[in-house]
Amino acid sequence: MKTRWYKDAVFYQIYPRSFCDSNGDGIGDIQGIISKLDYLKELGINAVWLSPVYASPNDDNGYDISDYKAINPEFGTLEDWKQMVAGMHERGIRLVMDLVVNHTSDEHFWFRESRKSKDNPYRDYYIWRKGRGKDGKKPPNNWTSRFTGSAWKYDAATDEWYLHLFSEKQPDLNWDNPKVRKEVIDICNYWLSMGVDGFRCDVITYISKAEGLPMGKFNPVMCGDEHFVLGPHIHEYLNEINRESWSKYDTMIVGEAIGCKVGDAASIIAEEKNELDSAITFELMEVDMKLNFFPVKLRLPKFKKVISAWQNLPPSCWNTLYLENHDQPRSVSRYGNGAGIYRKELAKMLAVTLHFLRGTPYVYQGQEIGMTNIALKEEEYIDIMATRIFTIIRKVFPPLMPLARWAMSKRARDHARTPMQWSGRPGAGFTTGKPWMKINPNHVDINVENEKKNPSSVLNFYKKLISLRLGNQILRDGSYKEYFPKNRSLFVYERALGKQRYIVICNFKEKNVNLNAIDMGARGAELVLSNYKDAPKAFTDGQTLRPYEARVYLQIK
Ligand code: GLC
Ligand code: CA
Repeated sequence: MKTRWYKDAVFYQIYPRSFCDSNGDGIGDIQGIISKLDYLKELGINAVWLSPVYASPNDDNGYDISDYKAINPEFGTLEDWKQMVAGMHERGIRLVMDLVVNHTSDEHFWFRESRKSKDNPYRDYYIWRKGRGKDGKKPPNNWTSRFTGSAWKYDAATDEWYLHLFSEKQPDLNWDNPKVRKEVIDICNYWLSMGVDGFRCDVITYISKAEGLPMGKFNPVMCGDEHFVLGPHIHEYLNEINRESWSKYDTMIVGEAIGCKVGDAASIIAEEKNELDSAITFELMEVDMKLNFFPVKLRLPKFKKVISAWQNLPPSCWNTLYLENHDQPRSVSRYGNGAGIYRKELAKMLAVTLHFLRGTPYVYQGQEIGMTNIALKEEEYIDIMATRIFTIIRKVFPPLMPLARWAMSKRARDHARTPMQWSGRPGAGFTTGKPWMKINPNHVDINVENEKKNPSSVLNFYKKLISLRLGNQILRDGSYKEYFPKNRSLFVYERALGKQRYIVICNFKEKNVNLNAIDMGARGAELVLSNYKDAPKAFTDGQTLRPYEARVYLQIK
């Protein structure tokens, strides 16, 4: 049944709240998405990952689901959704929906029942325990929430605590309960039968917790990981859903795999495992970020080393390629000088770096026009991560506030969630009303309308790149080899198949950098793509790469 269509796909991620607002209430919606389907078709992508559109009280913007089979009225109706899927399929675009089943909202019917009494039929849908200490006033163990603080919340109704690895409005489901797994299978089959082409499984590596929920090794921010990342029954549980649901359709299942190291990958994504088809992993994100939110300086050799390790996975494993999503800052601000004078070159160089690798590339909304981070005042941050960090630090150790502000200015999830910049007009073409979140003032320059008009724009570069990538056998199946791994400025690699090879050279520095490529044996290879108009047409052994310059050569032996 499985055609593994995702190996010939370029994905576009839509964060619906910030994509396009059709009715002027300031919140992006499904009719807004429908109005942009031709834009997506023109861009050339052939699959969409849609962040959650299910009913939700929005404690974590839809990642807290209160009804898995209902569409959030802010976004529209099931009829709108059906129209959207049909519109995508007509244009040859597949739809992968977010599936958030490590936890539900505390407003989900199951949890409202579960907390009522210890003998409620839904009690064991969640993870309840007695408190520690003589009077039970201490949480059952020392695990922390990924949004800071204890991962346990006391509930007076039954004098017990429930586990929440994210916010207290996101109680973790008890996957050891077969009824819970049945519910998940039922949810998957419901959407698959309505034409969904796959799922992006949110924090799927956390679903199986170690028996007895033992105390974690000390860690102030991420405590307990060793007891629930790729836990004892994860393979069994994923296997079961795969058998009962995912494998019955021609799906693509990509799991968000927090904590999954390159050495673990094959155990969960190798084709013969029948679990996930691919994983969104974090080792690359951790190169310049510590403890989930603290930025550290990018060291290119480390960055390249992580990419190369993942590129060299066994042949039955498939990579997910991304630099941005709704949880990460904007890549031009993260890996370079953001809105500086070389912004366009930089955005294009990062695109080249990613799209020539082996795996399925993902473009996050706005990345295709080179959107940047936003400057926010402390009170302008909205996302739960930044606001919680500010609250805790203010409470625990106020002298660290300037550091927290600095960290969030680089790293907060808010940067990715500012409304999509469609035009330079007020509302950025995103809304005619008051936007739910501040629009980046630079939308007057950086916007789709401008990008469409300008032949050398980031957007037009992405179009070229995507059309070059799709259907290209060298990029799909070719081998990968890195050159000059210790070079701190340049990322150089090749992709080869049969008698052909691409040579990719990317300058991560905002200055000229020389390359001595005599050992590559590529003299005379032909330039196929560059972010500078006048890059040399033929490969030479000595080259000078300009600020953020990217050059791709094709050699035919
Ligand atoms: C994932 C999502 C993130 C969310 C979290 C909890 O990491 O990408 O946005 O906050 O899971 O659901
Ligand atoms: Ca709306």
